[in-house]
Amino acid sequence: MPPPAIRPGVTTALAAFASLAAVVGTIHYLELPSLLAQRKKARKVEKRCYDATDEKYSLASFATLTSQLTLPSTYPLATDIQKNVPIYDCLDFDLTDSKRVEALRDELFHILYDGPGVYVLKNFFTDMAVLDGANAAFASIIKTELEASDGAKGDHFAPASANSRIWNSFSKHCLQDPASFVKYYSNPLFRIVSEAYLGPAYRITTQLNVVKPGGKPQVCHRDYHLGFQTKEDVARWPKPMHDASRLLTLQGAVAHSDMPLESGPTRLLPYSQGFDAGFMAYRQEEFNEYFLQNYIALPLKKGDAVFFSPALFHAAGENKTSDVERSANLIQVSSAFGKTMENVDSVPLVEKSWGLLAEKYAREGMSSELDSLVGAIAEGYPFPTNLDRRPPAPGGMAPESEQDILKRALSEGWQKVKVLDELTAMRKAGAA
Ligand SMILES: [Fe+2]
Repeated sequence: MPPPAIRPGVTTALAAFASLAAVVGTIHYLELPSLLAQRKKARKVEKRCYDATDEKYSLASFATLTSQLTLPSTYPLATDIQKNVPIYDCLDFDLTDSKRVEALRDELFHILYDGPGVYVLKNFFTDMAVLDGANAAFASIIKTELEASDGAKGDHFAPASANSRIWNSFSKHCLQDPASFVKYYSNPLFRIVSEAYLGPAYRITTQLNVVKPGGKPQVCHRDYHLGFQTKEDVARWPKPMHDASRLLTLQGAVAHSDMPLESGPTRLLPYSQGFDAGFMAYRQEEFNEYFLQNYIALPLKKGDAVFFSPALFHAAGENKTSDVERSANLIQVSSAFGKTMENVDSVPLVEKSWGLLAEKYAREGMSSELDSLVGAIAEGYPFPTNLDRRPPAPGGMAPESEQDILKRALSEGWQKVKVLDELTAMRKAGAA
């Protein structure tokens, strides 16, 4: 039997459809949409910074972004996905299998950059003696510091009665008990997670945080670098730098005690690290409200670790227990980038040129020329510093920089000797 004839109308429709598909296919093959987008970008100058005074950010976009689901198939090496967060069990890792370790690094990077922004490593430490040794060293340090401060030592989030904190617990741990320190930082997982996100030549810093029963929750925030600055300062950094800055730091925490949900382990909002304007928006009430309605938290066992992007919206939770002291060693790993190629010591430069600066100020006030000169001579960034002696203040959490001092000195008419004293004192206070 001959095949049934196709009606002419249908033939025409099919031909039209095929032609259209060919045209659309060609457009995509040649990547015309991205070429056009690129051309538009290249030819139109847009505002490079956010506006600290009246910028509005889309809560609807934020909600869409943070409503994504994490699929187990995306992260085959994870043992589970809980509340959208990939969970890995370090007991599964064969660290001698370099191919598998590389695949793991790929997954860990993807999670922090394009994925949910946070992962848990169960059994990051399995030898509890290592953690107990560190805890004993930390207890001695807390006792010594509390005695030295007459019981007044707290941190920027809570008073001493609710919270014990050791700034730079990394260095203090080594100085207090080198044997325990060596065991702790010999854990090869530190290198794997740090290099996965930051590449080589990173630098680890840590802070111990113990939240006692009754300890209050933090307000949701992002972390260092831009998360530590005021809204006005953050708005001065070009928008792409907001995105780039999240690649400069890896945040983490090792549980030094069991952390049941009631003890308030960190509240997290998966996928929020991908929100372009997040360093501005997290300060707005509607975003805080959204965070409070949608955050998740995961219980941890002593020895587990959690790592997350510094751009993830997060906050320490409330310790509602009557008997759990929630103890975490907060891990902050910094990229090698962000360091200068040469060392510049501002103090001798200020010493030589202070007379000229003061004359210029007398003539011109803080002119654009003088502002530029101050920006060249002195350090504008207050970090790295010593947070015991130069603690972060509430609100803006960054201490004064060398440039801040020079500007204050010029406006208040200081003598050279006072400027140099202040700069030297600041440097001394900021030393390890
Ligand atoms: Fe934080």
